[in-house]
Order: sequence, then C-alpha cells, then structure tokens
Amino acid sequence: MKTIIYYFTGTGNSLAAAKSICMHLGECELVSIASLAGTSGEIQPGADRVGIVCPVYDFGLPSIVAEFVQRLGLSQTGYCFAVLTMGGIGVSALHQLDRLVFAHNNRHLDAAFVVRMVGNFVPLYEPAKGAKREKLLADADKRFTEIAGSIDKGLIVRPDIALLSAFLKRFTYDRFIRQIHDADKNFIADGKCTACGTCVAVCPVKNIDMVEEKPVWKHHCELCCACLHFCPVEAIQYGPKTAKRGRYRHPALNIADMKAQRGE
Ligand SMILES: Cc1cc2nc3c(=O)[nH]c(=O)nc-3n(C[C@H](O)[C@H](O)[C@H](O)COP(=O)(O)O)c2cc1C
Ligand code: SF4
Ligand code: SF4
Repeated sequence: MKTIIYYFTGTGNSLAAAKSICMHLGECELVSIASLAGTSGEIQPGADRVGIVCPVYDFGLPSIVAEFVQRLGLSQTGYCFAVLTMGGIGVSALHQLDRLVFAHNNRHLDAAFVVRMVGNFVPLYEPAKGAKREKLLADADKRFTEIAGSIDKGLIVRPDIALLSAFLKRFTYDRFIRQIHDADKNFIADGKCTACGTCVAVCPVKNIDMVEEKPVWKHHCELCCACLHFCPVEAIQYGPKTAKRGRYRHPALNIADMKAQRGE
C-alpha cells in the first residue's frame, strides 16, 4: 500500500515525525510542501494513504500548509491522516485542517494526531534544554511509533476536543496570518554575522538573500524560525529577547534536509 506524506518543517520536529512514521509504514514517500509552493492547480497524490505533517503556528496551521491543503485532492485516496507537532497547546490546528480537507474534498481526515515536542518560538520563550529536552524527544519518538501503528491498522481517530486552543486561536490567528509574510521585518543579523550564508540555504521559502555580506529578508516569510535557529553564531535576533535565549534544532536535522525541503 503506497503512502505519501506531505511535510513542512522549520526546526526538524515535523520532519522527524514524518520520517519515523514513513519508516514504519513501508512503501512511503516524503514530499515537501515548500517545494510545491511555486506550482499551481490541484495536487492529486495518486497514493492509497496520504498524510500531512507540520507544526502548529499560533494555534492554527502555517500559512503555507493552509494554502497547500486547499489544493489537495483526495478523491483517489483511501485513508488520509494528519500529525501536527507543537510546543504545548494546538489541537485547534487539527480542527482547522479537518475543516479545510472537508471543504475541498467533502470528507474528513480519517485520523488526526498532535505530538508535543520542543517549542521553538524563541521570541516568546526559551526552548526546553538538557534532560527536559531529551525526555520530550524520547516521548515523541514513542508516540510516532504508536501513531504509525494506528495508521497502519487504518484506525479512525477524530481530533480531540480543543476548548482552550480554539479559544486562543479565535482571538489571535487571523491577525497572525494577515501579518505573517511581513513578520520578518523583526529579524536582524547582529554584529556576530560572518556572512556564512547558512540562513539563506535553510530558508524553506527562499526568503533571504545576501546583500553586501548581510542577510536581507524579502517579506514572504512563514516565520518558521529556521534561519534564527540554524545561524552558527546565533547572530539572528527577533525582538529584544532572543539574544539571551537558547536555540533549538531537532538532533537529526541537518542543512541537507533543509535544502531537500526546498527541492534542491
Ligand atoms: C510562529 C510559531 C508559532 C507557534 N505557535 C505555537 C502554538 O500556537 N502552539 C504550540 O503548541 N506551539 C507553537 N509553536 C511551536 C511549534 O509548533 C513546535 O515547536 C513545532 O514542533 C515546530 O516544528 P518544526 O520543528 O517541524 O518546525 C510555534 C512555533 C512558531 C515558529
Ligand atoms: S547564518 Fe548567521 S552568520 Fe551566517 S549569514 Fe546568516 S546571519 Fe550571518
Ligand atoms: S526567513 Fe527565516 S523564519 Fe522566515 S521562512 Fe525563511 S527561515 Fe523561516
């Protein structure tokens, strides 16, 4: 049985989820949502099972994922599932995804899961580190195996009830999405920048150019924070607090993965 998993990631949590589930499912292909962003029209996967794996942003979906799902045709797909990774609160994003799938295909997700991992939004908080980080990642790995088992059995898993998450989404998400592509005006590269170009290479949506040996953000940002977390000298800041906070990448994530996500 063929499976295609469409994924989006900034710091590797969702890619780790997608890779682990793919490995458990046998014949499975990973397709980057970012690599499809330059295309137009309906996307017909041609697979028996289709999965969508991505992070939760502001209690909802990343903009690029919401746009992608509105092009995803599932008429030839037997089973459709979603796995969202998050820092703590975000089940409402699964309900949003389910609504978008239904609006476009007149069917619901067959199975919908969230997995708590390391939160990566450094402008708001310090990412978990040390033993806490290790435990979150180890628990997530176990959860991926359980989720893959449920998918393999074809279980129907409805999204959990999301009272708090839905409440928070209602008051913040629309504004978040309206401003998302310009959110990069808050990024700066401070004096530590060595002009190495890593931030340019890892941006999933090619939103950064080097101009006179400094990164310049081009205002079609997804706010995935990959540039900030990958900078080898922690020169990228977003607001006044990120200079003193740590950085985070899933331990399995490397620059080659980020280039592959860009279709390179
Ligand atoms: C812009 C932004 C908004 C986020 N909003 C939420 C949120 O509302 N709830 C939550 O639990 N985590 C939130 N997070 C944390 C991510 O969902 C979490 O770290 C996720 O696993 C990152 O996945 P990735 O490593 O695949 O990019 C947010 C992260 C970013 C960058
Ligand atoms: S990754 Fe950091 S050091 Fe390298 S160019 Fe970007 S901001 Fe400068
Ligand atoms: S500019 Fe940075 S935050 Fe924005 S999409 Fe690119 S890597 Fe992500």
